[in-house]
Amino acid sequence: MKVVVSVGGSVLTPDLEPDRIEAYATAIETLDEAGHSLGVVVGGGPTAREYITTARKLEANEIELDQLGIAVTRLNSRLLIAALGDRAAPAPIETYDGGREACKRGDIPVMGGTVAGQTTDAVSAALAEHLDADLLVYATSVPGVFSADPNEDDSAQRYEEISAGDLVDLIAGIEMNAGSNAPVDLLAAKIIERAGLRSIVLDGSDPGSVARAIRTGRHEGTDVIPDGVGAAPEEWDES
Ligand code: UTP
Repeated sequence: MKVVVSVGGSVLTPDLEPDRIEAYATAIETLDEAGHSLGVVVGGGPTAREYITTARKLEANEIELDQLGIAVTRLNSRLLIAALGDRAAPAPIETYDGGREACKRGDIPVMGGTVAGQTTDAVSAALAEHLDADLLVYATSVPGVFSADPNEDDSAQRYEEISAGDLVDLIAGIEMNAGSNAPVDLLAAKIIERAGLRSIVLDGSDPGSVARAIRTGRHEGTDVIPDGVGAAPEEWDES
């Protein structure tokens, strides 16, 4: 199966301890050895936020802040590349074509951000669309898609399954309220919808559960199933 895994910076590098990065690399290698074709996108996490906070105080404009964020996503990508060794393309991939070329060569492309004005959520969806992936997985600090922000609203319910159209509507509503945390950004949701990408949003703190979700389809997050998307991957029935 062709899979793009989006690893939030807050789950891959909540700090600079090597163990979590090593554990993610092991999970990715296991999937690779099982015959899955993989692309990985890494977020900026707390390091990006610290840089952006400092630069904002220095009156950097929003594009400059985004550029700092992108630089940190690429730094984090290099940590994962170091842990993956020869299986990964040797440097962070900066374009979607570059990601596809790396896959064709048989390398695992690891990407950070691409352009200002978005997050790596959108990069992951665009890479998945360009690779014609069967599955897109968001391993994040939010354990799925909720009806409201679970940190602020006790009645928030996790969706086991949501259509891509409903995800777009839900996120459009959340993004109207500044400061709210959306599970993925609006551009990502729109790309998922137009590309008909089967996706999973789940808690990424345990890389083993992320790998299991890809191998078996079993997880405790949310399945995003665009209208008209085909049946679940055959491998999931056999597991
Ligand atoms: P992230 O994708 O990590 O943002 O990119 P995030 O979702 O806020 O953070 P986590 O990792 O899930 O906690 C970090 C920052 O880099 C810039 C944005 O400013 C973003 O907030 N960025 C990233 C871009 O401008 N373009 C990109 O393609 C990616």
